[in-house]
Amino acid sequence: MKTEELILAIETSCDETSAAVIRGGTDIVSNVVSSQMESHKRFGGVVPEVASRHHVEQITLIVEQAMKDAKVSFSDLDAVAVTEGPGLVGALLIGVNAAKAIAFAQGLPLIGVHHIAGHIYANQLVQPLTYPLLALVVSGGHTELVHMEKEGSFTIIGQTRDDAVGEAYDKVARTLGLPYPGGPHIDRLAAAGEATISFPRAWLESDSYDFSFSGLKSAVINTLHNYKQRGEEAKIEDVAASFQQSVIEVLVGKTKRAVEELEVKQLLLAGGVAANKGLRAALEEEFSTSVELIIPPLELCTDNAAMIGAAASSKWKQRLFSGYDLNGNPGLSLM
Ligand code: KG4
Ligand code: ZN
Repeated sequence: MKTEELILAIETSCDETSAAVIRGGTDIVSNVVSSQMESHKRFGGVVPEVASRHHVEQITLIVEQAMKDAKVSFSDLDAVAVTEGPGLVGALLIGVNAAKAIAFAQGLPLIGVHHIAGHIYANQLVQPLTYPLLALVVSGGHTELVHMEKEGSFTIIGQTRDDAVGEAYDKVARTLGLPYPGGPHIDRLAAAGEATISFPRAWLESDSYDFSFSGLKSAVINTLHNYKQRGEEAKIEDVAASFQQSVIEVLVGKTKRAVEELEVKQLLLAGGVAANKGLRAALEEEFSTSVELIIPPLELCTDNAAMIGAAASSKWKQRLFSGYDLNGNPGLSLM
């Protein structure tokens, strides 16, 4: 058996069309990402129909570019991997059908990958993973604490009961009149402000690892409304800093308790919100000695196919292949 398998991976679950070639689950041979952000900006969020249309237009070009950058031919590949869910169903289908077509034409095994498994395995492109580990997954659609006792095993120990953290950032940003996606704007403003406003922290039940961000979002909106009624102007930097402090305190607090209780060897950060400078700094400060902390570079935190190739490698080793009945599954479960 070849140990350094070469996998072509495809990701089209949301608004990036991406293809990558990954060797042995750890080496990025190529990784091409085409973002549709500009097309969705004027709508203030991702429009599913627009996303599907872009994926159809881009997918062949992006796969060809990834193969060209990798300087390999289809006959060099050992498998084709693709995000099968969760995500937008129309968007997922474009990637799934492209992967199926390549796998069928080249006689290659097909590997369906869970999008969140991909975000977690992005860390394996940075450093070898050591189990048991804990992953804090923070993105536009997900806020989860995932315990991995061993390779390929996922237990969600906590998740959001309402808004995902990225979604809360985007909604608060919208209220503040900032463009989509708002996360990076709030992050930038927060660095220039002070956390002078007292917003709630949703700790929920004392033994729960679940999160809730909709109350915080409403508190920010109410505060802005009250300022307006009093004819005062809220300092936008301070609102951003106060909101961000509330988010980070809860994320770091619950993560810390889980790290201690589960006695994990590594803590991984995953998902688009991992780009947040305040969160990165707070985690680095909190976990400087207690656990090995891995934070991927920004381009591996946002959606990309390299992470899908890394996750697929684990399935390739176990011969966990998909059939040609593989379908886009918007509600795919991680466990
Ligand atoms: O993982 P991702 O690229 O897409 C999903 O799978 O959801 O995450 C996108 C989310 C958006 O909500 C965006 O506002 C947020 O990540 N984000 C940030 C930052 N950069 C991106 N949130 C807070 N601070 C940032 N610097
Ligand atoms: Zn994602």
